[in-house]
Amino acid sequence: MNITDWKNLPFGYINTDYNVRCYYKDGKWGELEISSSEYIVMHMAATCLHYGQEAFEGMKAFRGKDGKIRVFRWKNNAKRMYDTAKGIKLAVVPEELFKKAIFTTIRLNERFVPPYGHGASLYIRPLLLGTGAEVGVKPSKEYMFMVFVTPVGPYFKSGFSPVDIMICRDFDRAAPLGTGCFKVGGNYAASLTSLELAHEKGFATTLYLDAKEKKYVDEAGPANFFGIKNNTYVTPESRSILPSITNMSLIDMCKDLGMKVERRPIPIEELPTFEEVGACGTAAVITPIRKIVDPVQNIFYDYCKDGKPGPVSTKLYNWLTSIQTGDAEDKFGWIEILD
Ligand code: PLP
Ligand code: COI
Repeated sequence: MNITDWKNLPFGYINTDYNVRCYYKDGKWGELEISSSEYIVMHMAATCLHYGQEAFEGMKAFRGKDGKIRVFRWKNNAKRMYDTAKGIKLAVVPEELFKKAIFTTIRLNERFVPPYGHGASLYIRPLLLGTGAEVGVKPSKEYMFMVFVTPVGPYFKSGFSPVDIMICRDFDRAAPLGTGCFKVGGNYAASLTSLELAHEKGFATTLYLDAKEKKYVDEAGPANFFGIKNNTYVTPESRSILPSITNMSLIDMCKDLGMKVERRPIPIEELPTFEEVGACGTAAVITPIRKIVDPVQNIFYDYCKDGKPGPVSTKLYNWLTSIQTGDAEDKFGWIEILD
């Protein structure tokens, strides 16, 4: 497939030339294999199919003005996949194997890394599956680790312009002491009904509240939540949200800008006090939030009366994306250039 319209790429799946696979058997990982098939064959009793014993990751590679390919913070994704594997009893993927798999896949699909200046990137999707046949509920003895890539545009159609989101009280994506802090498919399955409801009502995504008390903000669909006020960046502390690498990056950037940073529970009563709010993640980058609507309590907050993203979100977005493409200095050491 040849892509010409890089500017209008959706956040969707486009087949590329190759993916890589590695199999875990008898307590060890085998050699990395290169495949050009989009399909995988597995046992019908594989634990990933029945009991959701699977993990995934998401990160991006960017083409700079100099034509070089830059991978953003892959070590943090390797660490998160390790934590997820420990969390749901998958075989862990060593950092070296993770690195070899993602860099091999990017190199084999170099022609799909979008050119500089189109707001597009190469999305990298590692996948770890329990493939052993079990019928009793227990961890698999066999695993498959694979990586595929696909060129993507912005996750929310509007790109860097404000979206409206809906507070979700009737559904939770994760239990208080459940798997919300791990990147497992089950969390996303649990989010689909509420996500569809939000879409039907014209919202970009849902804002989940803490599952235990419904008093605090958890996260914004497939992205973390942040609010800005009084030169302070505030983001939820919660056991049931995904530890976002984008959020960690924004925290470091805000500190560097001399802002205060607070990671703590955010009561919903505090929402009207923010000057700016947004969602952040690999796919969402920084998505400014215009309105938060609570259909149950009939509450409505409007953060961009002029329809434009706020100044702090704009500054953070421009800086983060410039680091990613190499336009700004990589002062935090987040970039690895493909050689
Ligand atoms: N929260 C959820 C539920 C996500 O799926 C993601 C995406 O990975 C994020 C937050 C953002 O995390 P990151 O910035 O590491 O992509
Ligand atoms: C990401 O931002 O990488 C995600 O995983 C979000 C995704 C579920 C679309």
